Amino acid sequence: MSSAVGKIFRNKTNLEVMRCAEMNILKQVAVLFSGFLFSSFLSADTDLTFHKDIQPIIQEKCVNCHRVGGAGPMPLVSFEEVSPFAGLIMYKTGLKDKAGAMPPYYIERDNGIQDYKSNPSLSEEQIAMIAEWVENGAPRGNPQDAPEALTFEDGPVWRGGAPDIVVRSAPIVMKAGQPDWWGVIPDIEIPVDEDRYIRSVEVREVNDVDRSEISTSVGGQFIVHHMQWAVQSFDGDGNPIEDSLVNMPIHELGRMPDIFDPKAGRLLPANARAVSNNTIHLHSNGVDTTAFIEIGFYLHPKGYEPEYDISRVSLGDGINMSIPGGSKDTELHSYAVLKKPTKITAFEPHLHGPGARMCLEAIWGANIETLSCVGYDHNWVINYTYDDHSQPLLPAGTILHATAYMDNSQANPSVPDPRNWQGAGNRSVTNMFIDLGIQLEMTDDQFFEEMAARREMLNLSKNDSVPGCPLCMMPIVNPLVLTEADKESMTPAEIKYWEVKK
Ligand code: HEC
Repeated sequence: MSSAVGKIFRNKTNLEVMRCAEMNILKQVAVLFSGFLFSSFLSADTDLTFHKDIQPIIQEKCVNCHRVGGAGPMPLVSFEEVSPFAGLIMYKTGLKDKAGAMPPYYIERDNGIQDYKSNPSLSEEQIAMIAEWVENGAPRGNPQDAPEALTFEDGPVWRGGAPDIVVRSAPIVMKAGQPDWWGVIPDIEIPVDEDRYIRSVEVREVNDVDRSEISTSVGGQFIVHHMQWAVQSFDGDGNPIEDSLVNMPIHELGRMPDIFDPKAGRLLPANARAVSNNTIHLHSNGVDTTAFIEIGFYLHPKGYEPEYDISRVSLGDGINMSIPGGSKDTELHSYAVLKKPTKITAFEPHLHGPGARMCLEAIWGANIETLSCVGYDHNWVINYTYDDHSQPLLPAGTILHATAYMDNSQANPSVPDPRNWQGAGNRSVTNMFIDLGIQLEMTDDQFFEEMAARREMLNLSKNDSVPGCPLCMMPIVNPLVLTEADKESMTPAEIKYWEVKK
């Protein structure tokens, strides 16, 4: 709780992205270093051991990907598997919010809101423990201290837990070396015979790639680059029913599950199909691959009704983009004014290769607050979902400001040729700058209710400040004593807000 009621930090301006060459050297040094450690007789002046202290962390934060059949390039389950990588693990976990960090999630820890749903990051303490263990020779310790081994189903896991409904596409085939493909795949029928609402959705690719043969990034393991999709109801003759289309968050490689606000479930209409109405982009990963798209839906109970409308604040810029060749700190800016009180439930920077970082800021009157600043690694598309108590609650008139920081220099391994000027466009070698986050429009009543609930939930005093809620702590402007006459002109929500505020 205290982290949500914290200080508000302004943007950092200098990027500290490591030069590619340095990174490679460091990697090699790290590997050599770890090899050296295990053959050396360094005496440990700490009690941290693999089995007792480090294996539980790796089980919790890494092996869901780093296991046979997982998305990670090598398993990190046993001591024998982890120890050759100890130095590299220390390096990658220490990158925190920079491209290349492990686990892949890039929230800046000294900047903006800190509480997010399904945040897979290591804590500061865990990062420090890993570093200390490696620096002390990465000792194995007593195997009897090991945590109980985890078991996994074959293939990828659902990161959001077991879904209520799982549907699967027809097979999608990409040959080795085949050029990129954009198009529409056959609709996927969803077995629901009445309107339901979903609280979360997750999309994953299941394929026949032999991961022991592929040791590259996520891009090498999958063929579906992204899919814009929706659900739509169909009649008995197989014709789409007009106006029944409900858009879903875009699926992109490496994405986390989308968790919707509890009051803004998305409609899954009866007799629906998942339609890739707006194209799916496939790319070859170098081997003949047959893949399926699987969609997991997580349902609200029957009878659930949403309270909020989804609004789409258009934040980003697809035109005015000019990134000089070799430049390191080009900034792109975009502004949007909120027309209604708005709750932001997710932030999702969408950049391409040169993207290094993106920040979202709210400007209301004299308040300028950083909501989120995140690093960017073009290997991973991460959507950052705010915890319920940390979702920004912004009054109408707030200006949202997104800033992208672009690194088009040699230091960025995702840039194919840093001599090139970079402009906007759809292809991966051209650029985008968009916030694909989720925003919900509120009525004034709902806005007051949410602020009252926030004050109550966080038990705020007048001296606290809440990032992302500029009116939560505004000085009292209502009359000091509420008369019955005052109440008559107020809505129940305003009265409740007033009472909590007192
Ligand atoms: C969501 C899946 C996922 C999680 C969770 C994850 N990794 Fe990774 N890891 C990958 C993938 C995929 C790569 C390949 C590089 C890339 O695509 O970024 C990788 C690369 C690495 C590498 C570099 C390997 C090399 O040879 O360059 C190390 C080291 C590593 N991970 C360690 C970890 C550790 C330690 C954790 C937990 C603290 C972790 N990873 C969590 C998927 C994951």
